[in-house]
Amino acid sequence: MQSSDETTVYVAKPAVHDSAHKHVAGEARYVDDMAEPAGLLHLCFGLSSKPHATLDGIDLDAVRAAPGVVQVFTAADIPGDNDVGAMGLGDEPLLAADRVLYVGQPIFLVAATTRDAARRAAKLGRIRYGELPAILDIDAARAKRDLVCTPLTLRRGDPQRAIAQAPRKLASRMRVGGQEHFYLEGQVALALPGEDGDVLVHCSTQHPTEVQHVIARVLGQANHTATVELRRMGGGFGGKETQANGFAAAAGLVARLTGRPAKIRPDRDDDMVITGKRHDFDIGFQVGFDEQGQILGVEFDYAARAGFSADLSGPVTDRALFHCDNAYFYPHVEASSLPLRTHTQSNTAFRGFGGPQGMLGAERVIEEIAYALGLDPLEVRKRNLYGATERNVTPYHQTLRDDLLPGLIDELETRSDYQARRAAIRDFNARSKTIRRGIALTPVKFGISFTHTPYNQAGALLHVYRDGSVQLNHGGTEMGQGLHVKILQIVAETLQIDPAQIRLAPTSTGKIPNTSATAASSGADLNGMAARNAALAVRTRLAEFAAERSQVPPDSVTFEPGFIRVGGEAIPFAVVVEQAYQARVQLSATGFYRTPRIHWNRSEGKGDPFFYFAYGAAVSEAAVDLLTGENRILRTDILHDAGRSLNPAIDIGQIEGGFVQGMGWLTTEELVWDKQGRLRTHAPSTYKIPACSDRPRDFRVHLLDRPNREETIYRSKAVGEPPLMLAMSALHAISDAVASVADYKTCPRLDPPATPEAILNAIERIKP
Ligand code: MTE
Ligand code: MOS
Repeated sequence: MQSSDETTVYVAKPAVHDSAHKHVAGEARYVDDMAEPAGLLHLCFGLSSKPHATLDGIDLDAVRAAPGVVQVFTAADIPGDNDVGAMGLGDEPLLAADRVLYVGQPIFLVAATTRDAARRAAKLGRIRYGELPAILDIDAARAKRDLVCTPLTLRRGDPQRAIAQAPRKLASRMRVGGQEHFYLEGQVALALPGEDGDVLVHCSTQHPTEVQHVIARVLGQANHTATVELRRMGGGFGGKETQANGFAAAAGLVARLTGRPAKIRPDRDDDMVITGKRHDFDIGFQVGFDEQGQILGVEFDYAARAGFSADLSGPVTDRALFHCDNAYFYPHVEASSLPLRTHTQSNTAFRGFGGPQGMLGAERVIEEIAYALGLDPLEVRKRNLYGATERNVTPYHQTLRDDLLPGLIDELETRSDYQARRAAIRDFNARSKTIRRGIALTPVKFGISFTHTPYNQAGALLHVYRDGSVQLNHGGTEMGQGLHVKILQIVAETLQIDPAQIRLAPTSTGKIPNTSATAASSGADLNGMAARNAALAVRTRLAEFAAERSQVPPDSVTFEPGFIRVGGEAIPFAVVVEQAYQARVQLSATGFYRTPRIHWNRSEGKGDPFFYFAYGAAVSEAAVDLLTGENRILRTDILHDAGRSLNPAIDIGQIEGGFVQGMGWLTTEELVWDKQGRLRTHAPSTYKIPACSDRPRDFRVHLLDRPNREETIYRSKAVGEPPLMLAMSALHAISDAVASVADYKTCPRLDPPATPEAILNAIERIKP
């Protein structure tokens, strides 16, 4: 289709984000910016204060009597299925009916004339609970072994034997914390009732189609009665892949039952208390290796806190296993997942989707081996990288078709001056009492494609109007990641018209049906290809029309910026379009795409679930204060593979943002639940996301700039999630600094989040 060295006018250029100026001028419109319709009802949920209890009495008299309250709804009012779960398993009620399963679970819904009135009234419910024992963390859940879905095991070779026969072996465990999404725009939905039971819902969601289906399910109506639309989100990060469902269904329910428009916008505390987060994990491993640090066999178990329902915990824990190798070849391996049910929020997608937790296990194994043998962890990493032949099969039996990492790592090692700086740091530490420095290089290999194969499809709809301007719809959603500008570039390139001539319409289930979530970093891969196919269909019709009109062969017609060249004559695009209209040529087309070749058999643990892999590596240098545990990342160098980048400016932004978000997860962000199951860190006062000042002091980001060997859109690679995992270099740099207190003889086993407290504990533990 496209050769990898094709010269381009609009793609592979650093075009500015289509909303950049609107973002900074405050002109970008979000759901909460829409003019509020007359008669609007404002909604607020009444929440459970117990983690696990029967509902023995729900007295809502005081709620109904509160000023401004119009109506109050409970589970009994739901005409269809009381289930807003992503999987439709019936394990996630919109409103709890006879029991509650976590603190923060919605029990009733207040509709009032103002948001303030709804919020005040929601506090007045009198709930009689019959308290039941609650399972609040991974340890308690593991003892109970209540799983939210079928676990997965990946196996290749005979790891038990390989470990038993290995000259060296070790076993250990680690903990990995969860993470709150902290999208700047919180959850929000506005529902407008229509005729014949129809509802139109404006909602901040990564998955408009699922929201549509959930609304229809809750109302007991067909999918065609619900339309879901959005212009953009103020961030999603996976937190709006399924977690928008309940809010949108609440708004849709009230609009349908009252005939009035309804809006819900929880405040930040409610948002954090109600919605699921990144899964925290407990990872155990056993590894056998040789004196050179080569891994001979390894076994992993990945236990995750799923929360009260399945949500996406199955696919998330699967993806953790798919990344238990990170960049390393295991001759013999077994990895199994344990998605454990707990009485807490239902954990969900978060940038990397379990992959980051999977990789942390691999990197800890490397670190343990390095300390056991007294080697630089980088040396152990290099010795275990996937190779060209024989050493290129993953634990799920997919053979790697490319081999970029060894070269990428070498280039980064040189570029960042790793060896000289490492030596200088050792010197510095020998002389410095309280401040210690550390450095680490960590790689990333991330599989691209939804492991749920049907999701790897996309649609687009393109209209050319008579003045040559174009409207394009596609199934993807914009959450700040720059999907829309990339699609604009792709359509501009295909039609050879200025991007300013193209308008991207809001995402709507009425325009593109049966879409997948904008997730798994695949937004541009899938929708970009569908948009290109739609544009190609119109382009082909225009070329055929122009050729026939000028009596030349169709393949002699060429497109160049603004013009269509026909038999030596350059005719403006808009002129050909008007002529084509007069000749009754169809100027509208749909486009469709499905990813080729991928397949996955979960019960056998075998297949090619990924179309290709995105690679990257980072070197971070940290400084740690041994007295306080405070730390800084002084410098980070990144070399990242975005294929032939569709838009290097956007992609570098994704890498910087992903890295800093990953650093937050691994260093400062800590979720704390108390013994009553209450999330105590439910606001920025107690939950510390990284600020601008937390970014690496010296931050050097480079793209590898090598075309994807697979036929992706203009040979680009997905970029949304993989850079988050480059932040492992920050954690390992801090760990390297901590190791200096025991003269690098003991693995610090610094579990993330490496908060000052965790760092001080690690220092205490290993200090001679
Ligand atoms: N970047 C911004 N600014 N905001 C976001 O919410 N989400 C991330 C990533 N980058 C996100 C982001 C996640 S979790 C994914 S899966 C991808 O963007 C989704 O978009 P894409 O598939 O178009 O890359
Ligand atoms: Mo991203 S976690 O796949 O929404």
